[in-house]
Order: sequence, then C-alpha cells, then structure tokens
Amino acid sequence: MSYSIAIDGPAGAGKSTIARRIAKEMKFVYVDTGAMYRAMALYFIKNGIRPEDGEKISEKCRNADITICHVDGEQVVLLDGENVNERIRTEEVGNMASVSSVNPEVRKKLVELQQRLARRVDVVMDGRDIGTCVLPDADVKIYLTASSAVRAKRRYEELRAKGVECDLKKIEQDIIERDERDMNRELSPLRQAEDAVLVDSSDMTIEEVAEKIIGLCDWK
Ligand code: DC
Repeated sequence: MSYSIAIDGPAGAGKSTIARRIAKEMKFVYVDTGAMYRAMALYFIKNGIRPEDGEKISEKCRNADITICHVDGEQVVLLDGENVNERIRTEEVGNMASVSSVNPEVRKKLVELQQRLARRVDVVMDGRDIGTCVLPDADVKIYLTASSAVRAKRRYEELRAKGVECDLKKIEQDIIERDERDMNRELSPLRQAEDAVLVDSSDMTIEEVAEKIIGLCDWK
C-alpha cells in the first residue's frame, strides 16, 4: 500500500513550498493538483473559451491532453506534450483555474488522474479537496492556512522576486475573491476534512510547519 499525505488550504497558504519540502525529505512524490487545474485553464484560454461558457468547458475539457511527469523530483505538467510549468503561473491563469475548476467534468477528469498517481507511489498531494474527496483515506491530512494579509504578502514577494510588477492590495483582493469562490462552490468546495489537522502558518517558518507535519507521520 502506498502512503499519502494530503495538504489542503486556501491560495497562498504555503502548501506547495511545504509539500515540496516534505516530499524531498521523505522521498515521496510531490503532486501539485492546482497545477493541473491551471494547465486545464491555460488550455481554455488558448482555445478562446470564456470562463462563463460552462457548456463549452464541459465539452472541450475532454480534449485537453494533460499529463504529469517528474524530473529531478520536480513535477512537470505537460499540456498537449508541451511543458507549461512556467506559463501556468500567471494571475490570469490562476483566476481562470478557480472559475473553470467548478466544472464537474473538469474535476472528474483531473481527480481520476490524481487518484491513479496516488495508487502507484507514496505522495504528498496538495490542493483544495484532497483530504475530503481525492484521497479520503489519506494517512495524514493537513488543513494549512494563514491570514489573508500574510498570504497576500507572500504572493507579492514571490512575484516581485521574479521581477513582476504588482500591487499588494489588488493581490489581497484577488485572494479573498478566490477563497470565496473555492469555498462556496457546489462541487468539492475547499473545507477542512473532519480528520484533518489544522495548521495556521501565519507566524510559523517553513521549517516549523514542515517539521510539525513530518512529526504527524507514522511512516517508516
Ligand atoms: O493552488 P493553485 O492556486 O495553483 O490552484 C488554482 C485553482 O485551482 C484554485 O483557485 C482552485 C483550483 N483547484 C481546485 O479546485 N482543486 C484542487 N485540488 C486544486 C486547485
């Protein structure tokens, strides 16, 4: 049986940084499910499909060829065979992903892909519905959060470090809007699973959070 660690939480809580760190330390495979929703969103943007066009999204998502592989421990997302790791990191793609991920067909397709992966290898998987829906029997479930001000500041600094001009207030507004959508959608909304451990990282370092989570794993 493979071992699985599920990490859910709102945008900018530090899920990917923490999950990547834990995966490296425990020699697990890191699966970033948000990147899959982003690749799907990029596919819609490339094909001129608008966020409000639910029917087209349901129909066209079947044609999107999304696969993931791992190179030197890093997840690479391929859209129609092309590495889109960089292109999916824009705010435009993130916002589209938050909108198009409410679609049941999109979710069905990507959840199946995620479950297949977790059956094969030991994973640290992060997203919004991992503990509640994708891996309900995960060995360890974490709900990782932080205040919206802290999350906005982290995203702002991340973008500035990449040389992207941005506005802190606008980022916080986007984060609050995205949380609203992710938490209030009908299908697999973001929420803490009953058996998940709540970790608020507002005043914790990356090391502290990673240590706490690894401490919860009874994996040898
Ligand atoms: O974690 P992220 O910002 O890369 O995710 C982008 C969007 O994808 C997020 O706003 C909601 C959606 N998503 C989802 O619905 N379910 C997941 N398991 C992961 C992401």
